[in-house]
Amino acid sequence: MKAASVCAVLLVSGASPAFAEPPSRAVAVLRPTTGHSVEGTVTFSRTAAGVRVQAHIAGLSPGRHGFHIHQFGDCRSGDGKSAGGHFNPTAQAHGAPGGAQRHTGDLGNIEAGADGVAKLDVVDARAAFEGRESILGRAVIIHAKADDLKSQPTGDAGGRVACGLIGVVKSE
Ligand code: CU
Ligand code: ZN
Repeated sequence: MKAASVCAVLLVSGASPAFAEPPSRAVAVLRPTTGHSVEGTVTFSRTAAGVRVQAHIAGLSPGRHGFHIHQFGDCRSGDGKSAGGHFNPTAQAHGAPGGAQRHTGDLGNIEAGADGVAKLDVVDARAAFEGRESILGRAVIIHAKADDLKSQPTGDAGGRVACGLIGVVKSE
């Protein structure tokens, strides 16, 4: 009798929100910071290998631009600094997306062509939709300059030209 009631409790709790699947998709709509005209969309999808990141950004100067997830989902300040520093829940050094030492938010660079448009489609093994490395509710920042993938703590990527909050998208 006792075993049966424990089993019933487990069945009930299995349907509770605490055991729900994490979201499968998220999106950041990027808006320009003051004095810039960079905008675009970054979508995030959960895959077995990590989070797939697909970006389409316009209004950039040609060349490479630092592309990061920053700690706070707050794009209210005109310069983007309200988003805080790189999202770094594991207290590691700044680095490259594939590096052993990196911030979870270190997505490297996007590269714009002569038309100012940059596209990216990568799978990041570190970013997650749950747990301490969850990127949900944080912000995507695009920088004026390239991330050199080694200078501490920001990759020397310069000012912030666009910012967007990472929000959950309805599952398909
Ligand atoms: Cu950044
Ligand atoms: Zn970093």
